[in-house]
Amino acid sequence: MDKIRIKNRTEIEKMRRSGQAAATVLKRIGEAIGPGVSTADLEHISRDAIAELNATSSFLGYQLPEHEPYPATICTSINDVVIHGIPDKKHVLKDGDIIGIDTAVRIDGYHGDNAYTFPVGNIASEAELLLKVTRSSLYDAIAEAKPGNRIGDISFKLQDAAESNGFSVLQSFSGHGIGRNLHEAPEIPCLGVPGRGLRLRPGMVLAIETMVNVGLPDVQLLPDGWTITTIDGSLSALFEHTVAILSDGPEILTGSSLWET
Ligand code: MF3
Ligand code: CO
Repeated sequence: MDKIRIKNRTEIEKMRRSGQAAATVLKRIGEAIGPGVSTADLEHISRDAIAELNATSSFLGYQLPEHEPYPATICTSINDVVIHGIPDKKHVLKDGDIIGIDTAVRIDGYHGDNAYTFPVGNIASEAELLLKVTRSSLYDAIAEAKPGNRIGDISFKLQDAAESNGFSVLQSFSGHGIGRNLHEAPEIPCLGVPGRGLRLRPGMVLAIETMVNVGLPDVQLLPDGWTITTIDGSLSALFEHTVAILSDGPEILTGSSLWET
């Protein structure tokens, strides 16, 4: 993460395509979610969708610092798993679970990244509230993604919505710039102060992510080297859109009918 890479119109047009492909993959996975489905089944659907869209997975083989290459095309984070749950046959969804799906794909050299937390069957009212608050905080934050505003304006919206409902935001993971690389500068934390931080400019493209825990903000890494869970076992939700900052405001590149329900 060093220099901010401003995108021109041609690049943003390409990112519309990768954003739409990532959105399609996410929506297809959502349609398959239900009790009895394993996260390996969801990985299978993801691989088929990515191939059909002539895209490539941004996650498969991806290397975060101090991590092994990521072994799948999606992250499947059930209940107290915050992020980076690895799909496998042993994780079978049951009624009342929530599952965060994170997926990114590349088309024509540019990445699109998005995530959504789905209910499985009937969920408890607290889980319902968590999903509602976390999802709407993402839209409140995106509304701040316009020229002249600062990163702190985005981050504050995420933090404020979560904390006003008694939830907490993750401190150790952030959203990020995106483009030719899945992760570029700047970082977009889930907490911040209005009017502080880097000033936003047209041509920036940001993957804005919100990660909210019902209980404590603290998390731990499981021995598989990837899975991050809450330390107190409380539920956690995440939502993410890839957003282009245009001269007249934000454009969500990963929008789809999934988000309209
Ligand atoms: N999905 C995370 C993000 O949105 C990154 C996942 S890293 C991977 O930034 F290795 F799991 F792919
Ligand atoms: Co991301």
